[in-house]
Amino acid sequence: MNELDALVESARAGFAQATTPADLENAKARFLGKSGRITELMKGMAGLSVDEKKSRGAAINLTKQAIETALGERRQALLDAELQAQLQAEALDVTLPGRQRGQGGLHPVSLTLERIEEIFGSMGFDVAQGPEIESDWFNFTALNTPEDHPARSMHDTFYVEGGTEAAPNLLRTHTSPMQIRYAVQHVKKYRARIDAGQGMPEIRVIAPGRTYRVDSDATHSPMFHQCEGLWIGENVSFKDLKVVFTDFCRTFFESDDLVLRFRPSFFPFTEPSAEIDIQFQTGPLAGRWLEVAGSGEVHPNVVRNMGLDPEHYIGFAFGMGPDRLTMLRYGVNDLRLFFDGDIRFLSQFR
Ligand code: PHE
Repeated sequence: MNELDALVESARAGFAQATTPADLENAKARFLGKSGRITELMKGMAGLSVDEKKSRGAAINLTKQAIETALGERRQALLDAELQAQLQAEALDVTLPGRQRGQGGLHPVSLTLERIEEIFGSMGFDVAQGPEIESDWFNFTALNTPEDHPARSMHDTFYVEGGTEAAPNLLRTHTSPMQIRYAVQHVKKYRARIDAGQGMPEIRVIAPGRTYRVDSDATHSPMFHQCEGLWIGENVSFKDLKVVFTDFCRTFFESDDLVLRFRPSFFPFTEPSAEIDIQFQTGPLAGRWLEVAGSGEVHPNVVRNMGLDPEHYIGFAFGMGPDRLTMLRYGVNDLRLFFDGDIRFLSQFR
């Protein structure tokens, strides 16, 4: 290899070693710069004849061009590498699923309430809402609850400001005050007809909502839900209660062989009274009696407080626990999960 070819080779090797544009500029200076190798070679022609200059000059020019070409190629290679690195660093995986707005859903207890309303709606029941801060009258007195009943103690009931000592305000301990509120409204509407002996359309209503008691463990929360039911007419019996509630439970749990038990009990506002237990024939809870509601024929004193004559009007009431129904339906074993607001729990019911 002659001297000029060797120079091109060493330039190529020098450029190849440069890994940044700055390195490359330094390498370029060594060969093409003012005091670089090419300039040196030019200067070295000073003592040559005109003919020799001609051929030597042409050869050096070819060498210079070859070095410039090698420089250009290396420059382009470095630019390409830089672009590749940048593309790699900023790469987007277009196959990743897009970010979506989180989709909300109803709370499991709300799903249960919707279901209760739908089933009772199909049986001709109206749906009523009432206040959670109640007066002593609607929560206890109008419901035939004696002055000294234990439920009235500070131990069981949250009392709130407002009202008087004789008639304090409280957080309703059950949805039963809605029996009185709804019936009084209804009776007021038909008062003239009732007084004229023409009767009134039957009262048929459910009243779902929040209720409060001083109570807290795995199966009791200070805030919980109830759903009241009331059917008052001229001849509404305990048999009707059994038929309606059995129908409801079997529809709610989609289980035709569900068995109900009406266990004698006591409530001041019903007589006779019963706790309602259900029993599944299949599934993980099969064979156990599970309490789901309190119920009974509405007490004559309560019928009177509704503005009706208990000699003419009679019916049944029940109060069930939608939280309990939700636990049974979905197999949840701790009531507190419903009210912790943990999205990992709640999103399972979407
Ligand atoms: N209010 C009662 C309770 O909270 C349930 C009930 C409602 C019982 C209606 C009889 C009739 O336990």
